[in-house]
Amino acid sequence: MSTLKIFVGTMYGGALDVAEQVKPLFEEAGYAVSIYEQPTLDDLLEPPTDLALFCVSTTGSGDYPGNFVPLAREIDERHPALTELRYGLIALGDSSYGETFCGAGRSLDSLLEGHGAQRLGERLEIDAMETFMADDAAIPWVEAWIEELGLRAG
Ligand SMILES: Cc1cc2nc3c(=O)[nH]c(=O)nc-3n(C[C@H](O)[C@H](O)[C@H](O)COP(=O)(O)O)c2cc1C
Repeated sequence: MSTLKIFVGTMYGGALDVAEQVKPLFEEAGYAVSIYEQPTLDDLLEPPTDLALFCVSTTGSGDYPGNFVPLAREIDERHPALTELRYGLIALGDSSYGETFCGAGRSLDSLLEGHGAQRLGERLEIDAMETFMADDAAIPWVEAWIEELGLRAG
């Protein structure tokens, strides 16, 4: 069975809620899904996964949520080759923060691409100023992501 790992970075639970709401969509598409609430680099690397999805909010001034700092720091320090990694990215933020809008999601995208990982499709940025429930934006995006990129597993 194909596997999908979902890595969550959250302060208040919104990004975790997104992960939990989209999980059944991937299960219906044929994936065995695991959600990582305290993700580490080892979780990312072993066992290898067919697909990864990052659901990451932003705190501070464009910073990673505390639970996500270890994974980002390990990638930065250990420089793993991520050339086999195909991923999607859902960033949660609030445009009232101006320039740091979705800063953590954007930094993560650069970090992953800088280590050879391949993002599939565009990054989804969910603005709390416009979308009260992040799921309302995430669920249709995931449905389209699976269909348009032909990610339905056999
Ligand atoms: C202290 C604090 C700092 C924040 N800083 C930013 C920021 O720099 N950029 C941004 O886009 N959103 C920022 N946000 C907004 C959150 O990212 C947004 O509310 C998000 O939906 C929270 O998701 P979560 O429940 O998964 O933590 C901040 C929120 C708080 C409370």
